[in-house]
Amino acid sequence: MSRSDADSWDLATSVGTTATMVAAARAVASRDENALIDDPFAAPLVRAVGIDVFTKMVDGDLDMAATDGADTARIMTDVMAVRTRFFDDFFIEAASAGVRQAVILASGLDSRSYRLDWPAGTVVYEIDQPKVIEFKTETLAELGASPTTELRTVSIDLREDWPAALRANGFDDTKPTAWSAEGLLVYLPPEAQDRLFDNITALSAPGSRIATEYHPDGGAGLAARSKAISSQWQDRGLDLNMADLFYPGDRNPVIGYLEQQGWQVSARAREEMFAVYGRHFPDTDLTISLRNSVSVTAIRK
Ligand SMILES: C[S@@+](CC[C@H](N)C(=O)[O-])C[C@H]1O[C@@H](n2cnc3c(N)ncnc32)[C@H](O)[C@@H]1O
Repeated sequence: MSRSDADSWDLATSVGTTATMVAAARAVASRDENALIDDPFAAPLVRAVGIDVFTKMVDGDLDMAATDGADTARIMTDVMAVRTRFFDDFFIEAASAGVRQAVILASGLDSRSYRLDWPAGTVVYEIDQPKVIEFKTETLAELGASPTTELRTVSIDLREDWPAALRANGFDDTKPTAWSAEGLLVYLPPEAQDRLFDNITALSAPGSRIATEYHPDGGAGLAARSKAISSQWQDRGLDLNMADLFYPGDRNPVIGYLEQQGWQVSARAREEMFAVYGRHFPDTDLTISLRNSVSVTAIRK
């Protein structure tokens, strides 16, 4: 089943499953020796969603020790450790630079609003589909967790008029903002990706920042390998074909697109990001498609 314009999901279906998958990886990464991240909410959130393979993963009941290092769950865990830390550091640096408004696009089961030490006065907005927002908000409340700063959730599809919904929740476009688009772009149609950056730019006062990551081939390499990746999940009982979730087609390269719109961009390839955090990117058949992902930060001039 491939995508359609108005499709929707919860955390156990379609694109929502990927939010649970990456949260499971964050839970495992959080208890690694010399962990790069500490996300105490990831495991209980994943258990609450109730997808068997991910619950086993967070409970340590999934064997991820493939001898050739080519276990997709293990690779995902290593990738998520570095990726999560990159976005954590982005928000921490933006806060140190005085930015007091943040927008987490496609927030999924991301718990930064509950675990980062935001400076007083910071307002964080989280945007995702309604069922995703509702589930995380209710589950974390049941767990007794509270946001560490003022959190305003915005339940809307990012293919719709999300800027209007953001403003209606109090977003102030005269203040600099730190934006993240993590694990999102391949799930948007190419033109919606451009529109996303157009809207972000229009809402960004000077001094605003953005962090994102993208596949320069638009995810084609990942889609091509997705059979191998998905078959490991299928063997573990998860019926998910990752390629069905991506929107195919040529995409404008993120770096050039942001530069044209007046952003000062810095970018690092995934292998380099791993090195920055003292990790070695695993070299296997399965990781070839992940290697080319580029982590981007930019500041609005
Ligand atoms: C791979 S998950 C990443 C979640 C989160 N950023 C993280 O890294 O943990 C993809 C997320 O994108 C959200 N998403 C994808 N397309 C979307 C859309 N059109 N509107 C709103 N949310 C969307 C999904 O609901 C899901 O939470």
